[in-house]
Amino acid sequence: MCGIVGYIGDRVALPILLNGLKRLEYRGYDSAGVAILEDLPLVFKKKGKVAELEKHIGNQKLTGSIGIGHTRWATHGEPNDVNAHPHASMNGKFVIIHNGIIENYARLRERLEARGVTFKSQTDTEVLANLIEYIYEKGQVDAELAVRLALSKVIGAYGLVVMCVGEPDKLIAARKGSPLVIGVGNEEYFIASDATPIVEYTKSVIYLNDGDVAVIKKDQLVLKTMKNDSQSPVIQELSIDIGEIDKGGYDHFMLKEIFEQPRSIQDTFRGRVRSENNEIHLGGLYEVMPRLIESKRIIIIACGTSWHAGLVGEYLFEDFARVNVEVEYASEFRYRNPIINKDDVVIAISQSGETADTLAAIRLAKENGALVLGICNVVGSSIPRETHAGVYTHAGPEIGVASTKAFTCQVTVLAMMAISIGRSKGLIDDTNYRKLIQEFNQIPEKIGEILSQSGHIKQIADKYKNSTNSLYLGRGYLFPVALEGALKLKEISYIHAEGYPAAEMKHGPIALIDQNMPVVVVATKDSSYEKIVSNIQEVKARNGQVIAVVTKGDTIIRQMADYVFEIPETETVFTPLLSVIPLQLFSYYIAVMRGCNVDQPRNLAKSVTVE
Ligand code: F6R
Repeated sequence: MCGIVGYIGDRVALPILLNGLKRLEYRGYDSAGVAILEDLPLVFKKKGKVAELEKHIGNQKLTGSIGIGHTRWATHGEPNDVNAHPHASMNGKFVIIHNGIIENYARLRERLEARGVTFKSQTDTEVLANLIEYIYEKGQVDAELAVRLALSKVIGAYGLVVMCVGEPDKLIAARKGSPLVIGVGNEEYFIASDATPIVEYTKSVIYLNDGDVAVIKKDQLVLKTMKNDSQSPVIQELSIDIGEIDKGGYDHFMLKEIFEQPRSIQDTFRGRVRSENNEIHLGGLYEVMPRLIESKRIIIIACGTSWHAGLVGEYLFEDFARVNVEVEYASEFRYRNPIINKDDVVIAISQSGETADTLAAIRLAKENGALVLGICNVVGSSIPRETHAGVYTHAGPEIGVASTKAFTCQVTVLAMMAISIGRSKGLIDDTNYRKLIQEFNQIPEKIGEILSQSGHIKQIADKYKNSTNSLYLGRGYLFPVALEGALKLKEISYIHAEGYPAAEMKHGPIALIDQNMPVVVVATKDSSYEKIVSNIQEVKARNGQVIAVVTKGDTIIRQMADYVFEIPETETVFTPLLSVIPLQLFSYYIAVMRGCNVDQPRNLAKSVTVE
């Protein structure tokens, strides 16, 4: 949540910052701002998107080669020009940008006000800027020490970059709980909250750890801990390409990412599902496999779409590995008093690897002695670094705020895990194992087949674009798909949508059904097919409109439903990977037809780093 970008070197900073902010806009788009250090810092900030900021700057010539920029998702203080970052301290000696939340900001503000410090905004960030300046002036210390002393008084999370007018040759960056990456160039450095603004300039990066403070000059980077102990920076190579963070000819990132799914699933398979020798091999789990096999309970923790993938995981682990599974919202789990045993295995699922509640739940599980594994997409993010072991999804950068390819890649990893544990436990015989792997390998091609029907899905979307409500139903493996379909629709089109297990409909939601209520039923051929056919009849008997996702060639539901989306036949366990695709497209087209900003839906941000 919120995006940070910074530059120090010999180039003109402004275009680098504005370009970076556009790339980061998916992290928050309430307001944007930049500060460029010339003789004094020149600060420009504006409510709204980066385009508004660009208009506000206009044709002004800003030639400074040190600068910071921020795109905001509001927490403290409404989104307006004043609350936008960067924030300057009262006497203008410091300018800072900050992600995260300073929890004790009200008390710190009160104390500073009592000492005559005045504030312009309602933000916690301005409190930090003034605290740093206060310590710098009163303590007669240098900027670096002022930052470290100020941060020692702060409770909360931060990723921040500080510019000091009196020390114009450096930027100071610090991290606790909010990610920061430093790009290493030739006599220049780039700082950002994730690698997307950096990748076009350099692939060499340093991920800051919690508690790191970096003092960055154009030709030198000094890394320390908060306690002033020296650290050796570890330079890593980024594996993403610039093409992956462009729209690549599509109208929106979301559409591009939906269409990327055959490839992203293949990338997630690569080297892991081997059709030549019929094996699944998960290198990241090799050392913990004995413990996974012995485990009596798996707890899956996640939020949002990742939680839906976790729910599919429950069915997979129960079917293949015959182990107890609980799927928990990270935000509930961490605040309950959950029973976590030393022989439990906790699997945390997260696209961003930075979701604050999931991270807190991981820490709780570790404190209680569980083995904690991660399924993550963003390489180098916090979750893979805080878990004992794990598997990356290799979906590539997901920029659209609504998660699509991350979901199918998470389900892919969960299926690989469940099958390989089941196989190691001797629960899957040779014939079945071979059949599963062969079918698994067909999934990308089958998704391609569904994508080729996008025109048909668009036509049906046109018929439902003006709905105000809708119900999504599914059973078994398709219940989490119904939840995911409903989430996709509501988050990008603002149409109210509810996902339900189909059999639960008659325990309440059936009261909602009338001729205006579209009911999306995920009803492919599996063991509960007959039951879901009855559920469709119950909807039709009440004049509801049925849009059904069915197996190719289905004639029974085709006769009952108003419209159908066909998906190719597959093993029941893989149906979530196929059936979610038409629902993603359906939501996408409806949102576009309603004029919604699908890549940046209102009030949302890509990674939720606040609790
Ligand atoms: C929905 C969506 C969110 C995320 C959730 C968890 O489309 O994107 O519900 O799935 O915020 O995020 P991660 O997976 O990054 O932990």
